[in-house]
Amino acid sequence: MSHKAHPPSEAAEPETPHLDPNLDFAGTTPYEDYVKADVLTHLQHTLSDDPGEMVFLVTTQVMELWFTVIVHEWETAADAVRRDDVPTAVAALKRSVRELEALNASWKPLGQLTPAQFNSYRSALGEGSGFQSAMYRRLEFLLGEKSASMLVPHRGAPRAHAELEKALHEPSLYDEVVRLLARRGHAIPESVLNRDVSQRHDHSDAVEAAWTAVYSGDQDDELARLGEALTDVAELVWRWRNDHLVATRRAMGAKTGTGGSAGVAWLEKRARKNVFPELWTARSHV
Ligand code: HEM
Repeated sequence: MSHKAHPPSEAAEPETPHLDPNLDFAGTTPYEDYVKADVLTHLQHTLSDDPGEMVFLVTTQVMELWFTVIVHEWETAADAVRRDDVPTAVAALKRSVRELEALNASWKPLGQLTPAQFNSYRSALGEGSGFQSAMYRRLEFLLGEKSASMLVPHRGAPRAHAELEKALHEPSLYDEVVRLLARRGHAIPESVLNRDVSQRHDHSDAVEAAWTAVYSGDQDDELARLGEALTDVAELVWRWRNDHLVATRRAMGAKTGTGGSAGVAWLEKRARKNVFPELWTARSHV
């Protein structure tokens, strides 16, 4: 962020450039007005006296911010695909790939928690769990992993619930891509094109055949580049899930999760799901 230079002062040599930043602002600084850093850095309300809880809370908040940016990029990409603007979609997906790398790097501070360290504040979390993250759920919905039951925890939070409900009934990023494949001449059946988009996307042989054709053709083709950007996204989401799984296994073994699930066993099942399944299965046929 740049600041306006001072006007030349009477006392200074006329040629002396002003090197120091501006210190005088009538109200709050323009930085604060833009970044809201004062709000952001006073949202860390830890629930225990354990000094290790702060990094757990902040890492979770940092990840929520990355989820928010990534949702924004994927919504931009979905909208661009809908308008047949593949370069804009690929640019947004590529930004999201760098952001996913930064998101995944934020596991570092929590990746090696021991059960004793985690136990020092775990009980203070009560029934709180990342499972209740509305922004993570929007991210999954955009990938095509829809589920109406995932709205239930958010009944008491009207804004999050409304956003999730809208996302549930909108075509996912992947739905938009599959429709694009059809517009570009690939044979996608009506049952896939007009599917109930509030349900999760299931593997389709026709979509797999379309990707097989794309990957067998010119690799500089727009669709091939879109396919690779989506594959990068899928791989990094899978990495996030696996890093989460390993961090959880280290911190709490096979104990039940604070959110009430079987913990690691439940997360293992979730991490096994393939994002954009046909982009992976098509590779066996190229
Ligand atoms: C070492 C620290 C962590 C442990 C031990 C842990 C543990 C768990 C467990 C056991 C679950 C399953 C649901 C439940 O019963 O609670 C879960 C789900 C989840 N956690 Fe964590 N978690 C950790 C850190 C984080 C962080 C930093 C985030 C960032 C937001 C996060 C986000 C999530 C999400 C989004 C789910 C739902 C996954 C899904 O629906 O497939 N977790 N976590």
